[in-house]
Amino acid sequence: MRKIVERVKEKTSIPIYERKVENVLSAILASNDPWKIVDLSEEPLPLVVAIVEALHDTGYVEFKNGILLTQKGKELVEKYGIGKREDYTCKNCKGKTVEVDAFSDLLEQFREIVKERPEPKHEFDQAYVTPETTIARVALMHTRGDLKNKEVFVLGDDDLTSIALMLSSLPKRIAVLDIDDRLTNFIKKTAEELGYNNVEIFTFDLRKPLPEYAIRKFDTFITDPPETVEAIRAFVGRGIATLKGPGCAGYFGITRRESSVDKWHQIEKLLITEFNVAITDIIRNFNEYVNWGYVEETRAWKLLPIKTMPTYNWYTSYMFRIQTIEGSRGYEEEITVGQELYDDEESSTT
Ligand SMILES: [Fe+2]
Repeated sequence: MRKIVERVKEKTSIPIYERKVENVLSAILASNDPWKIVDLSEEPLPLVVAIVEALHDTGYVEFKNGILLTQKGKELVEKYGIGKREDYTCKNCKGKTVEVDAFSDLLEQFREIVKERPEPKHEFDQAYVTPETTIARVALMHTRGDLKNKEVFVLGDDDLTSIALMLSSLPKRIAVLDIDDRLTNFIKKTAEELGYNNVEIFTFDLRKPLPEYAIRKFDTFITDPPETVEAIRAFVGRGIATLKGPGCAGYFGITRRESSVDKWHQIEKLLITEFNVAITDIIRNFNEYVNWGYVEETRAWKLLPIKTMPTYNWYTSYMFRIQTIEGSRGYEEEITVGQELYDDEESSTT
């Protein structure tokens, strides 16, 4: 085991220790599909690849219609008592913790509207969640008391959460911004067709500080930031800056596919110490993303030792809910960094 850890260390700067190798071996016992192995091991894709390659170089793993343990590999897991990774996620809610039956009409309407949605653009790091996920967000936010007669800010909206919010008629006011005018135009057109007036729609680059009219005006925000610590500071920090004061809430997704637990620790520290907010909820794999059209252009594709297309929605993120207290503060500075805002050693979908 220690030899494998040493080999992985030579290939990547992502923190590695024995338990992470164990996680990947557990996942290989459950599946030979590289995407599923990333999913089950809950380690970032580039790290999984580095571990799998180290296991391959040392003869524990072979590539044969997938990633398989060799006889030597089977002896290794036997020796360390490593078991197959199981999954007992609740089948009713798929782990989302909310049930969406009460919103089934809304889901149907939403599905119909988003048939015409603009397709994700690689250049903006876009990938949208399933319609079920978007509706579950409405159910979750409403369950937490963050929607009814509240003022809600959506920062970046390739998921079209703002449209689901309009359909719910729950918020008093919605503001939504996105850098992509295909999306803002689509949201505008939908609002007109629905005859929904309490929505403000802006085309805006979130690297710029938010204008004064957005600061300290909202009860709730939702965003889906790229997952470098710097991007989370910028995007989640901007979200917090839009909140009125203590007791307001923010929602955002953080994945394990592109963020190690070590990075999670930095993110949580940022939330707690820099923004001075409380983390009230972390719901595992709440957000399920539809496989994007540009998978063969991504770093993930380049890295994978076996090129197979994902056969299911392997990319998920945990839903974070934070709440402001006395003394919480957001981030209002201008962001001057370029692509490194979106990419770090652990990212792979850009
Ligand atoms: Fe459940």
